[in-house]
Amino acid sequence: MTRQWRGVLEEYSDRLDIPDGTPTVSLGEGGTPLVHSPWLSETTGAEVWLKVEGDNPTGSFKDRGMTVALSVAVGEGAEAVVCASTGNTSASMAAYAARARIKPLVLVPRGKIAAGKLAQAILHGAQVIMVRGNFDDCLRLSRGLAEQYSVALVNSVNPMRLQGQKTASFEIIDVLGDAPDLHVLPTGNAGNISAYWLGYREARDAGEATRLPVMRGWQAEGAAPLVTGAPVPDPETVASAIRIGNPASWQLAVRAADDSGGKFRSVSDDQILAAQRELASREGVFVEPASAAGVAGLLLEASEGVRYDDQRIAVTVTGHGLKDIDTALSTFTDLVDTVCDADVDAAAAAAGLA
Ligand code: F0G
Repeated sequence: MTRQWRGVLEEYSDRLDIPDGTPTVSLGEGGTPLVHSPWLSETTGAEVWLKVEGDNPTGSFKDRGMTVALSVAVGEGAEAVVCASTGNTSASMAAYAARARIKPLVLVPRGKIAAGKLAQAILHGAQVIMVRGNFDDCLRLSRGLAEQYSVALVNSVNPMRLQGQKTASFEIIDVLGDAPDLHVLPTGNAGNISAYWLGYREARDAGEATRLPVMRGWQAEGAAPLVTGAPVPDPETVASAIRIGNPASWQLAVRAADDSGGKFRSVSDDQILAAQRELASREGVFVEPASAAGVAGLLLEASEGVRYDDQRIAVTVTGHGLKDIDTALSTFTDLVDTVCDADVDAAAAAAGLA
């Protein structure tokens, strides 16, 4: 019998800086595919690989951090956990809390969460509070609740989250045999870019990689504080997962970009949606809008004449396309159902074969 992937805590037990005796709350997260992208390779001149994080148990990279944060919280005796979220963190936290049999409390910006993510949080049994405000307000409230009441905060300001999320770097190095030259990813609250950078540095220090990648974070134009250098009071973007004006891991993310020789840039909503559509139709990889920001960035650079010949690029696509089908289908303005009677000739005629 082939061995089943055991999840982040067990696969990387010797590489996570967590308290001794921490129990394991896992759904088998991590071990996601690194998929070669012929289309992006051709477009950029590089060898481009997609780290498909939508293949995690709740459909986003958040599960890597959540298995660790929830396990540590349970080890410390927590009976309830809280997070602010643009959707994916809440879906993930609710699933792991269900597994741990503790109470999940979720604060989300009212009306700004994709239906799939909200359904996940509800089905997993979370108490969902819709805040009249944005993600940054929700994070402030979550911090306040965790300070004043007996609930553990599991947003990425909790360092256990980054411990789990850094494992994606280890997996990329495992497959490629070394770190890539460049790592590209969408950036919102900025925990993920900070976690990848931590993972790459640890792997280099352990002798598993001979180099460090340049880290490039892509934000949405209407929510690009790391590009402008100042918090955005009213962030707005169709990529609701990264609709964040004041990232919690600001300093860590800036250090990752600076120390690696990288930077932050932004892409428009139209560029994000076009990248999402092309990735789905050309490569068979369906991601949510925010997850396409890194791909949109590579395409933007290609249109500017930037070439990455002979380089290796890893692009994290952070969450599954099925989480937000309303936005995915919103760009198809001319969709008409093709209907036919239930026989072969009618189907052939409808398909234009006859
Ligand atoms: N992509 C997706 C699909 C996300 O859900 C997020 C963040 C990001 C990218 C950005 O990652 O915050 O580490 O820079 N989602 C959070 C949430 C904020 O609440 O689900 P980041």
